[in-house]
Amino acid sequence: MPLETELAGQQLTLKRYPVTNNNLQAWDAADHHLLKVVNEAHLNTQHCLLINDSFGALACGLNATRVLAHTDSKVAQLGCQKNIALNGIDTSITWIHLQQEWPKDIDLVLMKLPRNLNQLDSQLIKLSQTLTKGTRILIAGKAKNINRNIVERCAKHIGQATPSLAWKNTRVIDCIFDGKVRPTTPLRSWPIPEYNLNIDNLPNVFAGNSLDIGARLMLQHIPNNISGDIVDLGCGNGVLGLRAAQLNSKAQIHFVDESKAAVDSAFRNWQNNFSGQDNRASFHWNDCLSGLTQLGAELVLCNPPFHQGDALTDHIAWQMLNDAKRVLKPGGILLLVGNRHLGYHIKMQRVFGEVSTIASDPKFVILQSKK
Ligand SMILES: C[S@@+](CC[C@H](N)C(=O)[O-])C[C@H]1O[C@@H](n2cnc3c(N)ncnc32)[C@H](O)[C@@H]1O
Repeated sequence: MPLETELAGQQLTLKRYPVTNNNLQAWDAADHHLLKVVNEAHLNTQHCLLINDSFGALACGLNATRVLAHTDSKVAQLGCQKNIALNGIDTSITWIHLQQEWPKDIDLVLMKLPRNLNQLDSQLIKLSQTLTKGTRILIAGKAKNINRNIVERCAKHIGQATPSLAWKNTRVIDCIFDGKVRPTTPLRSWPIPEYNLNIDNLPNVFAGNSLDIGARLMLQHIPNNISGDIVDLGCGNGVLGLRAAQLNSKAQIHFVDESKAAVDSAFRNWQNNFSGQDNRASFHWNDCLSGLTQLGAELVLCNPPFHQGDALTDHIAWQMLNDAKRVLKPGGILLLVGNRHLGYHIKMQRVFGEVSTIASDPKFVILQSKK
């Protein structure tokens, strides 16, 4: 994949994060389109907010002295920081999260269209609670994804929303905020009566409306009698770690996800289901288990993702397996649930030298490897 591109008149080297995943490009035509609109209209970028910048293409291409940035993804945040440093860009970035109050002095918002429509809604609603009337919001995405439904959502949450003509198969929706504050959407919640758990899901968290069927199978096979560290790797709303905590009352549970909304959901669900037991759990907004050197795990639970944004990829699964092996104690176990057709047993065999099938149904398989 090419690593060099010219963005807004600058020659940049942009890498995906982690860099081992070098067969995917770190920018797209929508980044080019957005910066083209900014430059052609000579927009002032002094108080600019970037939303969903994947690997820092916008932050690098904008080349402003300071920017605010919001992303749900730790991997995107790390990628952005690495590419800023790699290109010697002198931009200071302040990162902001959905769960905090955002600064009011934002003059321009540049946004990449997220994949998840609940995430789009929550980000637009947050903007309506933050911006002053008349602020411009430019939202870029693939032309095929910018359909009438998306434009209507922008109009509903922001006000005037006008899609551009297509350029390199992308469009930019030009929105002008109408000054009306929109209320935050209520959380999605559901009970799992058979395990006496109640689950809240913030927008953009995996399994938006109900328990994932792979996770449901996994819940039946979580071991008990563990007293050390248990890691819920790629925890989403934390359902696997919550069940592990019920079965292993002396264990310490570590919830890890690269999605901030996922970690926040897991934290919420811990507080709702294990009130008063805060000393038994820790929460990490992290890229797999990188940097978590203090862990010595008896058990890692994992329902790995098979895409990053729009791209189908198995590099995250590989990273999760290798990280799991690194943090497991000798004799410790990785328990993984995955779609049968994804062939995780081959990867686990390669990383651990052994793998066994614990259970399966027509769609999913539960696999175990011992360190
Ligand atoms: C298939 S979901 C599983 C969620 C939950 N464990 C369940 O079973 O319902 C995979 C999770 O991995 C997370 N993830 C993706 N890439 C990651 C990474 N690099 N580091 C940590 N978590 C990641 C996703 O955000 C998502 O929550």
